[in-house]
Amino acid sequence: MIRSVVRGIGSALPRRIMTNKDFEALVDTSDEWIVQRTGIRQRHIAGDDETTASLGEAAARAALDHAGLQPDDIDVIVLATSTPNNTFPATAVEIQNRLGIHHGFAFDLQAVCSGFVYAITMADLHLRGGLGKRALVIGSETFSRILDWTDRTTCVLFGDGAGAVVLEAAEGEGSLSDRGILASALRSDGAQKDKLYVDGGPSTTGTVGHLRMQGREVFKHAVGMITDVIEDVFSRTNITSDEIDWFVPHQANKRIIDASAKKLGIAEEKVVVTVDLHGNTSAASVPLALAHAVREGKIKRGDLVLLEAMGGGFTWGAVLLRW
Ligand code: UT7
Repeated sequence: MIRSVVRGIGSALPRRIMTNKDFEALVDTSDEWIVQRTGIRQRHIAGDDETTASLGEAAARAALDHAGLQPDDIDVIVLATSTPNNTFPATAVEIQNRLGIHHGFAFDLQAVCSGFVYAITMADLHLRGGLGKRALVIGSETFSRILDWTDRTTCVLFGDGAGAVVLEAAEGEGSLSDRGILASALRSDGAQKDKLYVDGGPSTTGTVGHLRMQGREVFKHAVGMITDVIEDVFSRTNITSDEIDWFVPHQANKRIIDASAKKLGIAEEKVVVTVDLHGNTSAASVPLALAHAVREGKIKRGDLVLLEAMGGGFTWGAVLLRW
């Protein structure tokens, strides 16, 4: 049985760091409120020369280096983003060209904060379907460009960055001791669109628009959705929460992460938290957290890793993989 195995991982962050203190001069907020309600202490903000494509390219190059591979070894690129460089062509194709790859195919995938979980699942299906041997799965965002910098309820929450993995099709036994992606579950429901959306777009206003969120409403749904989809993955694999080595959740709010881990019975020391360093980087949040945990020597070959994300749409999903 073909399994999609992670061969390498990398990340990239804009040079500029903005601390909570920096926001006190912009809007009516405080470091204390932001830390208490979200766990965020700082985030990276893209400069004029830093874009979703340039950050995605840098993360992809780092993942290729980590894998010991060359750009030409890649057949498929899936970029998860809600902040593309242009409305079209796909930013994935721009990254493909920046990497000097002129074979195979590349496309963008839009599932907001769930983007990376969706993208790694799509890449897995492509590799297992025989459409390629190796895929780059990238989450890259410049949410700072779609924030309303006068709205304290949203502008303090988000940051920019990118993370990427190289997935390779490898022969597995078909058992849960195989390395690679073992199970995925994806969901969406458009009924809650007004809770988290951007108030512009090519077909409506002809503008890019700004992010709008009813934070408390999103919060109310988050833990239930996250735990439901993870329980689905657990029941389909017969894996229980105590068998998980590392839980790498979407990094939106430390309180959501803690409540989800508690409800699932996942021990605190197995939870990877980077929301303090990066804020919410949407589709980049899970691969940035994964890269951080690998760099720190936490996640090691053979570990059972659980990913999850939830965001605008609503969209939500979970992926179980053996590193
Ligand atoms: O990645 C996609 C998924 N997104 C999320 O998961 C975000 C989910 N939501 C959240 O993380 C939280 O709801 C927030 C962090 C956005 C807000 O935390 P909260 O505990 O739900 O606060 P709240 O919205 O209930 O607001 C409490 C108070 C309000 O004042 P009043 O109405 O009680 O007087 C807000 O106006 O805090 C006020 N407030 C702020 N105060 C200082 C809102 N933003 C700020 C701020 N600084 N930046």
